[in-house]
Amino acid sequence: MSQPSAALPLVADGLGWNPGGTRVLGPLDLTVQRGELLVIVGPNGAGKTSLLRLLGGLLEPDTGTLRWGKLRGAGAERRRNRARQLVYLPQLSPLSIPLTVREFVRLGRYPHRDRWTLSATAQDHEITESALARLELLEMADRSMVSLSGGERQRVSLAAALAQGGAVWLLDEPTTYLDPRHQVEIASILQAVHRDGHTLVVTTHDLNLAAQLATRVVALEEGRILAQGAPRELLTEEQLETLFGVAFTVESSPQGLRIWPRAAEGARS
Ligand code: UTP
Ligand code: MG
Repeated sequence: MSQPSAALPLVADGLGWNPGGTRVLGPLDLTVQRGELLVIVGPNGAGKTSLLRLLGGLLEPDTGTLRWGKLRGAGAERRRNRARQLVYLPQLSPLSIPLTVREFVRLGRYPHRDRWTLSATAQDHEITESALARLELLEMADRSMVSLSGGERQRVSLAAALAQGGAVWLLDEPTTYLDPRHQVEIASILQAVHRDGHTLVVTTHDLNLAAQLATRVVALEEGRILAQGAPRELLTEEQLETLFGVAFTVESSPQGLRIWPRAAEGARS
């Protein structure tokens, strides 16, 4: 895995996005410190994906500024450096990609290629194979992306992210489509990436995953930051009810938090 560089933190100042004149996000201030694992939670439509896309430079803000600390160069060179440093995993990967799984994962190496020849090196092949192995995808490496299930596609996207590497990882709901075993697997991969010193910003509706992974949780509501703090400060019954409009039970133990919506309690017993 590539070593993190000093290309951080991310500093958003008065950041806002108003497509077609309608306010979707902000204005908000957010600093992501180097080495943080920041988890963004909030109801559907709160602006999590929009915020992640702004942080990744995939959307142009309408207001405010965004700084990627110590990113070198200007213009095209700066964009190239940003592509090397930022890993972006979309919420929904495209459905009809006419590539095999291996070819798609190898594309993750694209920002690192020599800008003149653009050919894959032996190292690119090696990193691709190791990312495929890590996500248990070797057996389906020659299958077409078009033929995959939602969860399989999500694991392939994560393998491409792993192959790319970079100092900052922006992951939009990385476990939505995964079965329990693969959810556990991905959580442990994200923890390993974090332990290696990388910075992660992750959105999720899985509050137990947020409790397990986050160094800080940001609660987003109608495009604004409602609250933020350590998981035990933020993921409380009161805060979650305010945010999602449904009652929650939060059980706290030395092992961590267990969180579930209270309406589901009847179904559990
Ligand atoms: P997001 O897509 O940022 O919300 O859209 P989210 O928090 O990630 O939601 P989930 O949990 O994945 O469902 C925020 C708002 O911005 C609007 C959307 O309709 C939504 O109300 N939006 C999004 C636009 O108006 N234009 C766009 O191009 C994208
Ligand atoms: Mg979203």
